[in-house]
Amino acid sequence: MTYATIEIAPSILAADFSKLRDEIRATEEGGANVIHVDVMDGHFVPNISIGIPVVASVRKATRLPLDVHLMIENPEQYIEEFVRAGANRVLVHQEATVHLDRALAMIREHGAEAGAVINPATPVPMLSEVLDKLETVLVMGVNPGFGGQKFIPRAIEKIRQLNQWRARDNGAFRIEVDGGVDLENIAELAQAGANTFVAGTSIFHTPDAREATRQLCRQATQALSQKV
Ligand code: DX5
Ligand code: ZN
Repeated sequence: MTYATIEIAPSILAADFSKLRDEIRATEEGGANVIHVDVMDGHFVPNISIGIPVVASVRKATRLPLDVHLMIENPEQYIEEFVRAGANRVLVHQEATVHLDRALAMIREHGAEAGAVINPATPVPMLSEVLDKLETVLVMGVNPGFGGQKFIPRAIEKIRQLNQWRARDNGAFRIEVDGGVDLENIAELAQAGANTFVAGTSIFHTPDAREATRQLCRQATQALSQKV
């Protein structure tokens, strides 16, 4: 199975929270496919962001699927609550649990799509035993914890490797990339095999979030059509 489609996933971490509904709407008008929500606990990553009540509010502000990225310790403890709050996809870090297989199964049992995330220092083979137990693999392009960081180029190799494994095994997972995604690198990431592109700074720290979303979408789509 191959994924020809691409998804743009604005990361609301970079949005203006005082007008979050408008910010989300602008990206919807620009063609966003999913809203990415970054949950940080100040332990797994050195930053604190938002939690369950905000996910529930965002759920009311959009019909798009919610991609909830858990950068927290003990993710299993909170999966059910995030799904209940409206998460359609829950992404847990391989590094945050010694029971990744169980965490992914829990996400699916609660009715959401399961995703596993790997940090820049984690190699792809760490996920080899669970690739048939998830809907998404998220490759971090930066060390998680903050928006606005520079993309670490080696992540592209990991996307290529996952893409090869997916083709070899007839896999059915999406490849998502998060951190430092912008107009400069999105074409290369799409050609490497990424399907879902998380973008915070390159959407919300621009004069026009709608136009920025549209351009990212266009750039990724064009890169794929050139490849074929
Ligand atoms: C990083 C977060 C990312 C981040 C992306 O810890 O997981 O989702 O918000 O932001 P940019 O696009 O600014 O790198
Ligand atoms: Zn994220």
